[in-house]
Amino acid sequence: MAKTVALFLFVYVAGIVAGHGEYRGKETVSVTATLGMPWPMPQQYSSTQDLFTINRNAFKFRATGQSCDILESAFFRYQTIIFGLREEVLKFHPKLRAGTLTELDVNVKNKCDRYPYLGMDESYNLTIAASGAILNSNSVWGALRGIETFSQLVLQQSTDMFSVNGTTVVDYPRFQHRGLLLDTSRHFLDVTIIKQNLLAMSQSKFNVFHWHIVDDQSFPYTSNNFPDMSKMGGYDSRHIYTQDQIAEIIEYARILGIRVVPEFDSPGHSQSWGKSIKDLLTKCYSGSKPNGQYGPIDPSLESSYGFLAKFFAEIGKVFPDHYVHLGGDEVNFDCWKSNPNITAFMKQKNFGTDYAKLEEYYVQRLLDIVSGVNKGYMIWQEVVDNNAKIPKEAVVEIYRNQAYMLDVYLTTLKGYRTVLQACWYLDLIKYGVQWQAFYACDPGNFNGTAEQKKLVIGGETCMWGEYVDNTNVISRTWPRASVVAERLWSAQSVKDATAAAPRLEEHRCRMIKRGFPAESVNGPGYCPQEYSIPV
Ligand SMILES: *[C@@H]1O[C@H](CO)[C@@H](O)[C@H](O)[C@H]1NC(C)=O
Ligand SMILES: *[C@@H]1O[C@H](CO)[C@@H](O)[C@H](O)[C@H]1NC(C)=O
Ligand SMILES: *[C@@H]1O[C@H](CO)[C@@H](O)[C@H](O)[C@H]1NC(C)=O
Ligand SMILES: *[C@@H]1O[C@H](CO)[C@@H](O)[C@H](O)[C@H]1NC(C)=O
Repeated sequence: MAKTVALFLFVYVAGIVAGHGEYRGKETVSVTATLGMPWPMPQQYSSTQDLFTINRNAFKFRATGQSCDILESAFFRYQTIIFGLREEVLKFHPKLRAGTLTELDVNVKNKCDRYPYLGMDESYNLTIAASGAILNSNSVWGALRGIETFSQLVLQQSTDMFSVNGTTVVDYPRFQHRGLLLDTSRHFLDVTIIKQNLLAMSQSKFNVFHWHIVDDQSFPYTSNNFPDMSKMGGYDSRHIYTQDQIAEIIEYARILGIRVVPEFDSPGHSQSWGKSIKDLLTKCYSGSKPNGQYGPIDPSLESSYGFLAKFFAEIGKVFPDHYVHLGGDEVNFDCWKSNPNITAFMKQKNFGTDYAKLEEYYVQRLLDIVSGVNKGYMIWQEVVDNNAKIPKEAVVEIYRNQAYMLDVYLTTLKGYRTVLQACWYLDLIKYGVQWQAFYACDPGNFNGTAEQKKLVIGGETCMWGEYVDNTNVISRTWPRASVVAERLWSAQSVKDATAAAPRLEEHRCRMIKRGFPAESVNGPGYCPQEYSIPV
């Protein structure tokens, strides 16, 4: 992925090289942040002038309905997120205005699920009034989203004193699938960085971590059944994820209401797999002899499917989410074409010279293996672009960033649930305000039928890993990813970028206050509290 995507970067070369240019003169207007406004914008939101004060030493969250570890840990987490560490004693007595708030009653109707899942109920209602502060939700997931909203409404007035306006929120997501992709193959990312990213995701109401865990460059997944895969396919023994670390990441995501969908991309993008699994990759030929190069997984050998069956049986157990992403993109046919055994196999199967048929054959067998271990699957678009007969249970992800709404149209026309990624490449950076283009992209903005639109279950933004690692992945991802989060959560009518900018500015400053090095996206300006590191 990513490497063949056309770059539409309009680079202001002169400005960047010379360090000045006429465009800079236009960037004098800074955006003034809002105060106590939520991001993403709820479906219905209204606030009053009534200001309630909160003494952080007296405030608590209270579960008035169902509760569980997920809710308890949210209470604990948000005490710190909103109020910081509570070591200081009360020393400030404000004049009360509308009243004092001493608790948020969180009323979850149904028993907690153990894991988040596609289609979970994330709706909630939040009321802050003289009668009290109440959050109602059907599920614990709705409670998580609502507590985040509540936390964004609270402003610090002094060391111990905080305030929140009277507020009414009725909220639910527009799309079920709201994802962020990180790539840990091009560059390894530490567990701590992945967790920091998950925490940031939860604060923009993302609910899917698409973990592009392996690729050509490295294989950091430590397999129980095939330990040599990371030993030989990882960059080195420190750049791999142990089973314990993977479990730690899944657990951290669970507590935040985030699904972990791992991607094991094949038959292409699998060079790192071949370092340890003998005969898995196709031997490329020059003339009549193997030339030492390897291509995609060899679809003509039964041993390939034997390996895949054993491998995905393990993946099915390790990752609790119903979905695994199986990739299927950018399969290079040249190596298959060069290999005489594959030519013979094509003949035997009556595929003629249509290598898309061979790919389809491979994908069909892989899908059977994966359904056989009771997993659902996501795939990149070209698996169905080639009209392969793929079961309708597949979720198809659109990544080609040209005419992508046509791809959404065609994929839903074929009856597939569809996730859009094509317009949200965070890794394709350029100078200037870039987020407005992300904001303008709407997965529902095509001329399909109501039936087709229902099949668009959401979107994903992505940070491919060629040029990011621990040093910059958080700052390059945030807060631009949040822009996509609002597109996927809020109503379709929330699309005015000028109106959104001050709220985004506040959201970014809030992220900084919360410890994330979220980069500047609106041009010149400042945050009340800047990012700093201890020296
Ligand atoms: C909160 O109330 C104050 C007045 O008490 C008002 O100035 C402010 O705009 C209100 N904020 C919101 C978000 O409604
Ligand atoms: C929130 O309020 C709306 C409108 O009053 C109601 O239809 C909905 O069921 C409520 N949702 C929850 C989760 O309580
Ligand atoms: C490819 O075909 C040749 C000749 O038919 C055979 O000797 C060889 O074992 C085959 N290679 C593989 C990997 O199946
Ligand atoms: C909808 O868009 C598709 C793809 O661009 C096009 O083929 C079709 O003619 C359009 N239909 C209408 C009613 O505009």
